[in-house]
Amino acid sequence: MPAILFSKIKKIEILTLHYRKHIMNQATNDAIIKELTRAYWLELEATINYLAISVDLDGIRAEEIKKSLATDIQTEITHAQELAARIKEIDGRVPGSFAFKPEQASLQPPEDSTDVVSTIHGVIEAENMAIEQYNKIIRLCDGIDYVTQDLCIKLLADEEKHRREFRGFLKEYEKD
Ligand SMILES: [Fe+2]
Ligand SMILES: [Fe+2]
Repeated sequence: MPAILFSKIKKIEILTLHYRKHIMNQATNDAIIKELTRAYWLELEATINYLAISVDLDGIRAEEIKKSLATDIQTEITHAQELAARIKEIDGRVPGSFAFKPEQASLQPPEDSTDVVSTIHGVIEAENMAIEQYNKIIRLCDGIDYVTQDLCIKLLADEEKHRREFRGFLKEYEKD
């Protein structure tokens, strides 16, 4: 093969490789945006439900849970803000409420407004859902997007702390 032809083929091969890498990175970035968006909705849905529960529960036994959830509203809004900022930074768009689909069946205010135990179970389940989602994004970002990974590790730590707190509540409330 003439040398000039050989070098042309090599060039095309390198270009195709670069292009394929570019397409793959684009696909991963899109997948990261999609998962960040789900995390964003989970955070916002938690604020809706924590707000409802923190007001709606009745009884002395509910007081501490209501207080704790009322302060968590701010934390979860901050999480949502951080996620939205990251979505934008990696060239995604932050959706409005028409794109929202609720998922947190376990976090609905309980039928019996004094049923603190089922509320605590619901919070733990919702935290599990968030924890699973952050772990998923952390794995997805590995070797590709360390800034998103770092954010999600921080959010994961917050949710694990939050779950631990509610597991503690459960221990006490299931006693009586
Ligand atoms: Fe959160
Ligand atoms: Fe949380």
